[in-house]
Amino acid sequence: MNAQSASTPAVDGNLTRALVVAIDGPAGAGKSTVARHLAACFGLLNLETGAMYRAFALKAQRMNVAFGDETALLALTRSTEITLVPQPEGNRVLLDGEDVTALLRTPSVTDAASRVSVHPRIRAWMVARQQQLGARGGVVMEGRDIGTVVFPQADVKLFLDASPEVRGQRRFEQTGDTPQSRPSEEVARDLRDRDERDRSRAVSPLRPADDAILLDSTHLTLTQVLEQAEAVVRAALQR
Ligand code: DC
Repeated sequence: MNAQSASTPAVDGNLTRALVVAIDGPAGAGKSTVARHLAACFGLLNLETGAMYRAFALKAQRMNVAFGDETALLALTRSTEITLVPQPEGNRVLLDGEDVTALLRTPSVTDAASRVSVHPRIRAWMVARQQQLGARGGVVMEGRDIGTVVFPQADVKLFLDASPEVRGQRRFEQTGDTPQSRPSEEVARDLRDRDERDRSRAVSPLRPADDAILLDSTHLTLTQVLEQAEAVVRAALQR
């Protein structure tokens, strides 16, 4: 698994070079937007771990491996290569060399990603790769378990949240669904089900690290969220 830097953003100084920023939170909380902003602001590589789970889920789908069969999924990892290519607009994802970025946001891959991610040995495989990707620092990594498991020593840990209603509405707007294509209630229901699975799984459930800074954006504008996240990182750089 590799991370390639497509462009070299303006680096804020030596301090940011080794910085690790962990962003966790449920779906639709704004993690990707915040991660992209912080990456651009502080010259960090932005790594979306959810995209790795999504790419692996797509592979399982294509190979007809049951999402509940951990042993078969583990065997599949041995012939799977996932590469994240950070870009200003988000990660491009290569699955065994094929650019699958455009295929990863469908409802079926989204659901499958949440299902394959419950398995401890699949998580261990992912976590080892994520730790390699971030080993040299200079990264903002987003997911569900970055501050708790992948980088418990991260310099900055943000846990983003918002009410389920607000997250459902944001996700509905983001995915470009229309009331005719997929009703907002269906988008909200999928999000609730996925949240429930992500929070209740036995291994590395979604939860804030004890030392994470909670940022609830239910009543905040996007600008306010970005400003607050930026301020947290600036404060960490001055420590
Ligand atoms: O962030 P996302 O919506 O792209 O993530 C898709 C799924 O992957 C999510 O429902 C749970 C799983 N995931 C995970 O278990 N751990 C991570 N660090 C990132 C994602």
